[in-house]
Amino acid sequence: MRRAEIPMHGQPADWTAICAVTDIPPLGARRVARPQGMAVAVFRTADDRVFALLDRCPHKGGPLSQGIVHGDAVACPLHNWTIALADGTARAPDEGCTPAFACRVDGGRVWLDATELATKALDLPAPVAGPCSKQPSCA
Ligand code: FES
Repeated sequence: MRRAEIPMHGQPADWTAICAVTDIPPLGARRVARPQGMAVAVFRTADDRVFALLDRCPHKGGPLSQGIVHGDAVACPLHNWTIALADGTARAPDEGCTPAFACRVDGGRVWLDATELATKALDLPAPVAGPCSKQPSCA
Protein backbone atom coordinates (compact mmCIF):
# COMPACT_ATOMS: atom_id res chain seq x y z
CA MET A 1 0.00 0.00 0.00
CA ARG A 2 1.15 3.49 -0.76
CA ARG A 3 1.21 6.10 1.99
CA ALA A 4 0.96 9.84 1.64
CA GLU A 5 0.28 12.99 3.56
CA ILE A 6 -3.13 14.35 2.61
CA PRO A 7 -4.65 17.10 4.70
CA MET A 8 -8.15 16.51 6.07
CA HIS A 9 -10.12 19.15 7.93
CA GLY A 10 -6.99 21.33 7.92
CA GLN A 11 -4.98 18.75 9.83
CA PRO A 12 -2.25 16.63 8.29
CA ALA A 13 -2.80 12.92 8.65
CA ASP A 14 -1.11 9.74 7.58
CA TRP A 15 -3.27 8.14 4.91
CA THR A 16 -2.86 4.74 3.28
CA ALA A 17 -4.00 4.10 -0.29
CA ILE A 18 -6.33 1.11 -0.39
CA CYS A 19 -7.58 0.79 -3.95
CA ALA A 20 -9.27 2.68 -6.75
CA VAL A 21 -12.91 3.57 -6.16
CA THR A 22 -13.71 1.48 -9.23
CA ASP A 23 -12.13 -1.56 -7.55
CA ILE A 24 -15.11 -1.59 -5.17
CA PRO A 25 -18.30 -2.96 -6.75
CA PRO A 26 -21.13 -0.41 -6.83
CA LEU A 27 -23.47 -1.06 -3.88
CA GLY A 28 -20.88 -3.48 -2.53
CA ALA A 29 -17.70 -3.55 -0.53
CA ARG A 30 -14.07 -4.50 -0.48
CA ARG A 31 -12.48 -6.12 2.58
CA VAL A 32 -9.20 -4.71 3.92
CA ALA A 33 -7.29 -7.17 6.12
CA ARG A 34 -5.20 -5.83 9.00
CA PRO A 35 -2.14 -7.37 10.68
CA GLN A 36 -4.07 -7.30 13.96
CA GLY A 37 -7.78 -7.10 14.64
CA MET A 38 -10.70 -7.72 12.37
CA ALA A 39 -10.79 -6.56 8.76
CA VAL A 40 -12.27 -3.25 7.64
CA ALA A 41 -15.03 -3.18 5.02
CA VAL A 42 -14.89 -0.33 2.51
CA PHE A 43 -18.27 0.36 0.89
CA ARG A 44 -19.24 2.16 -2.32
CA THR A 45 -22.63 3.79 -2.73
CA ALA A 46 -24.55 4.22 -5.97
CA ASP A 47 -23.20 7.77 -6.31
CA ASP A 48 -19.59 6.66 -5.66
CA ARG A 49 -19.29 7.83 -2.07
CA VAL A 50 -17.05 5.60 0.01
CA PHE A 51 -17.31 4.64 3.70
CA ALA A 52 -15.36 2.30 5.96
CA LEU A 53 -16.62 0.21 8.89
CA LEU A 54 -15.24 -2.66 10.90
CA ASP A 55 -16.36 -5.79 9.05
CA ARG A 56 -18.48 -6.89 11.98
CA CYS A 57 -22.21 -6.41 12.43
CA PRO A 58 -23.17 -5.06 15.87
CA HIS A 59 -25.81 -7.80 16.14
CA LYS A 60 -23.93 -11.13 16.02
CA GLY A 61 -20.82 -10.18 14.12
CA GLY A 62 -21.99 -10.87 10.57
CA PRO A 63 -19.65 -9.86 7.72
CA LEU A 64 -20.97 -6.47 6.64
CA SER A 65 -18.66 -6.58 3.61
CA GLN A 66 -20.99 -9.24 2.19
CA GLY A 67 -24.06 -7.08 2.64
CA ILE A 68 -25.89 -4.97 0.09
CA VAL A 69 -25.51 -1.19 0.16
CA HIS A 70 -28.72 0.82 -0.22
CA GLY A 71 -28.61 4.57 0.11
CA ASP A 72 -26.35 5.44 3.04
CA ALA A 73 -26.60 2.07 4.74
CA VAL A 74 -25.69 -1.59 4.39
CA ALA A 75 -27.97 -4.55 5.09
CA CYS A 76 -26.22 -7.27 7.06
CA PRO A 77 -26.31 -10.56 5.13
CA LEU A 78 -27.16 -12.64 8.21
CA HIS A 79 -30.33 -11.15 9.71
CA ASN A 80 -30.84 -8.01 7.63
CA TRP A 81 -30.10 -5.36 10.25
CA THR A 82 -29.50 -2.00 8.59
CA ILE A 83 -26.23 -0.29 9.52
CA ALA A 84 -25.55 3.37 8.73
CA LEU A 85 -22.38 3.74 6.69
CA ALA A 86 -21.42 7.15 8.10
CA ASP A 87 -21.17 6.12 11.74
CA GLY A 88 -21.86 2.38 11.99
CA THR A 89 -25.05 2.69 14.04
CA ALA A 90 -27.85 0.18 13.67
CA ARG A 91 -31.14 1.69 12.58
CA ALA A 92 -34.08 1.47 14.98
CA PRO A 93 -35.61 -0.63 16.26
CA ASP A 94 -32.25 -2.39 16.35
CA GLU A 95 -29.49 -1.10 18.62
CA GLY A 96 -25.72 -1.02 18.70
CA CYS A 97 -22.98 0.12 16.38
CA THR A 98 -19.80 -1.00 14.71
CA PRO A 99 -16.72 1.24 14.62
CA ALA A 100 -16.38 3.57 11.63
CA PHE A 101 -13.00 4.42 10.11
CA ALA A 102 -11.88 7.71 8.56
CA CYS A 103 -12.02 7.38 4.80
CA ARG A 104 -11.55 9.72 1.87
CA VAL A 105 -11.37 9.68 -1.90
CA ASP A 106 -8.63 11.60 -3.66
CA GLY A 107 -7.64 11.27 -7.28
CA GLY A 108 -10.06 8.38 -7.75
CA ARG A 109 -8.34 6.39 -5.02
CA VAL A 110 -9.63 5.37 -1.61
CA TRP A 111 -7.52 6.33 1.41
CA LEU A 112 -7.85 5.17 5.01
CA ASP A 113 -6.23 6.69 8.09
CA ALA A 114 -3.14 4.54 8.71
CA THR A 115 -3.17 5.17 12.45
CA GLU A 116 -6.77 4.06 12.78
CA LEU A 117 -6.09 0.95 10.72
CA ALA A 118 -3.25 0.03 13.06
CA THR A 119 -4.94 0.85 16.36
CA LYS A 120 -8.74 1.09 16.22
CA ALA A 121 -11.08 -1.63 17.50
CA LEU A 122 -8.33 -4.22 17.93
CA ASP A 123 -9.85 -5.50 21.15
CA LEU A 124 -13.31 -6.39 19.88
CA PRO A 125 -13.98 -10.11 20.25
CA ALA A 126 -14.42 -12.28 17.18
CA PRO A 127 -18.03 -13.08 16.31
CA VAL A 128 -19.51 -16.08 18.07
CA ALA A 129 -22.48 -18.21 17.17
CA GLY A 130 -25.33 -18.46 19.63
CA PRO A 131 -27.91 -16.28 21.28
CA CYS A 132 -27.67 -12.54 20.94
CA SER A 133 -25.85 -10.76 23.74
CA LYS A 134 -25.06 -7.12 24.37
CA GLN A 135 -22.24 -6.02 22.09
CA PRO A 136 -19.46 -3.53 22.90
CA SER A 137 -20.08 0.07 21.90
CA CYS A 138 -18.17 1.99 19.25
CA ALA A 139 -16.31 4.20 21.71
S1 FES B 1 -25.35 -10.58 12.49
FE1 FES B 1 -25.92 -8.86 11.34
S2 FES B 1 -28.05 -8.78 11.50
FE2 FES B 1 -27.49 -10.47 12.74
